[in-house]
Amino acid sequence: MDFIDLPQMVSASGSVTLPGSKSISNRVLLLAALAQGETELRALLDSDDTARMREALVALGVEMSAAGEGGLRVKGCGGRFPTRQAALFLGNAGTAFRSLTAVLAFADGEYVLKGVPRMHERPIGDLIDALKACGANIGYLEKEGFPPLSICPAVIRPGSVVKIRGDVSSQFLSGLLMALPLAGARVTVEVDGELISKPYVDMTLNLMARFGVTVEREGWRAFSIPTGARYRSPGVFQVEGDASSASYFLALGAIGASAGKPVRVEGVGKDAIQGDVRFADALVAMGATVEVGDNWISAARPADGKPLRGIHLDCNPIPDAAMTLAVAALFAQGETTLANIASWRVKETDRIAAMAAELRKLNVRVEEGVDFLKIIPPDAAYPLQPAVIDTYDDHRMAMCFSLASFGVPLRIRDPGCVSKTFPDYFDRFNAVVQPAPVIAIDGPTASGKGAVSSRVAQALGFHYLDSGALYRLAALAAREAGVDWADEAGVATIAAGLDVAFHAGDVRLNGREAGRAIRDEEISSGASKVAALPAVREALLFRLRAFHRAPGLVGDGRDLGAVVFPGARLKVYLTASPAVRAERRTRQLLERNEPANLCAVQADLEARDARDRARSAAPLKQETDALLLDTDHLGIDEAVAQILDWFAARN
Ligand code: DC
Repeated sequence: MDFIDLPQMVSASGSVTLPGSKSISNRVLLLAALAQGETELRALLDSDDTARMREALVALGVEMSAAGEGGLRVKGCGGRFPTRQAALFLGNAGTAFRSLTAVLAFADGEYVLKGVPRMHERPIGDLIDALKACGANIGYLEKEGFPPLSICPAVIRPGSVVKIRGDVSSQFLSGLLMALPLAGARVTVEVDGELISKPYVDMTLNLMARFGVTVEREGWRAFSIPTGARYRSPGVFQVEGDASSASYFLALGAIGASAGKPVRVEGVGKDAIQGDVRFADALVAMGATVEVGDNWISAARPADGKPLRGIHLDCNPIPDAAMTLAVAALFAQGETTLANIASWRVKETDRIAAMAAELRKLNVRVEEGVDFLKIIPPDAAYPLQPAVIDTYDDHRMAMCFSLASFGVPLRIRDPGCVSKTFPDYFDRFNAVVQPAPVIAIDGPTASGKGAVSSRVAQALGFHYLDSGALYRLAALAAREAGVDWADEAGVATIAAGLDVAFHAGDVRLNGREAGRAIRDEEISSGASKVAALPAVREALLFRLRAFHRAPGLVGDGRDLGAVVFPGARLKVYLTASPAVRAERRTRQLLERNEPANLCAVQADLEARDARDRARSAAPLKQETDALLLDTDHLGIDEAVAQILDWFAARN
């Protein structure tokens, strides 16, 4: 699927068992592979990034086997990979690329490391310089300072003191630290410049200790690996739930859950070793209700009933989870500034630029700097607008923007990119959010759908969508542009670019009133012709779905229940016999002082019905889950009352 459409959500609640932490999974896979003895890794993340690491380790000769309930048994190679020559492909997995580069530098073999094009744009020179200072023999295969790399056996210089920059990516230091026990000699690493993302280095040290290597350290400035340090399997290792993945659900709770029914994540809690659990503190600073248990965290809206508050935050310790705050900020009062986020620029994409560009599509005011992002939440002058969001092959862009659906319907392109760390994210997301309700009323022409639907909408205080009007507008716009109604690509282009506005019964095309023109008999017939063209239907789909807003929507058309709003809370098939419909339409025309002949009207209406029913794209039919309402003997009031009754019974 190349997009997912999200309607406006109205609330969230429920519980989510988190997938395993990516950062921990890829580190322990490597440590278990290097250790002496066999390790059973439990609750390991199964995603693109961990798959790349596993494939690489298998290519290096490490044996792995399934160990019940999603576990993995890894046979450690005691510090020497069995395979001494290999070409490894690591996709866009930064954690795998950096740590394997460091480890293979001391592995006594010949290796080539490659990734996707974006991986080849992510700098690695600082790590390579540090490794070379220890005696590593590494070459750049394309551009100096960037992957792909070739690695030959190192000539270790015992007692080396190497410097590594700490202000580009903490993964450099983490990779180096994990590799040094393989050097077989005492090496000291000194950090140059301020170390960013310290919690990730803490995690590395913690995991190395669990695998038997204690690093001597002087604060965040210097780290030494004692001579003779060796990794030993801890036997069984339980991976924590992913704290970065938790951030989306905790933010959902803070935006849309009541305190009595929060959103709860299972798998991380009080004793988590991942820095991103501190995302919860940021939510507290925004006023959210947060509780932390041994192995869970829950979040809900502020307990005082007030809105969330914007914050100014140094995001250095939580670079990944901080992205979630950029979208949560739309639901806060007052602006939010995310500072110290320069590392975003060298991640899966330039995340500062990407975040700013996509927020602007939603009509959000954003200021971006080299290392900060300021978000000004929407207000009456700058309301959120539905938009199609690009994700830049960045899982976190897709997951972050799903939260914006609490403000406005949106389309997210390439949602499958979440498989990098959270393959079933959107299923879990849909399980905890409740969309605004929809009543979809489909039926043939002149069945009274329009009158009934708008009255139902009015009674409930919901929005009303006359979906046929969009097909009519497409036909009218095509006619005005001189495009033939049979020209599928031509009409689809026009449909995609329609400049239309609906205001309290007023319909405008290109700024001009068009309400009457689209009801013209010829345009009606054109509408039914262009509506049969699949490319035109596709071009209008998101436009129709963009009407799915809080507090709810009543829409009428032909395929609203089947295609546009398949999850509608109530689907109605509203019809009447051709004779009754022809009579109603004739009366309508005469009331508007337009010429009308009953027989001609009935023939025309039956021809249009036939075309709507026979077309291959979204034909008119009663869905199995739609309730039939035959209005041959029902007045408008009775039809409205019936639909309101049905809807009440569904709530
Ligand atoms: O409901 P209406 O008569 O205004 O619709 C005009 C045309 O648009 C009609 O021929 C069928 C088509 N249509 C459609 O194909 N799908 C919809 N959801 C709504 C209308």
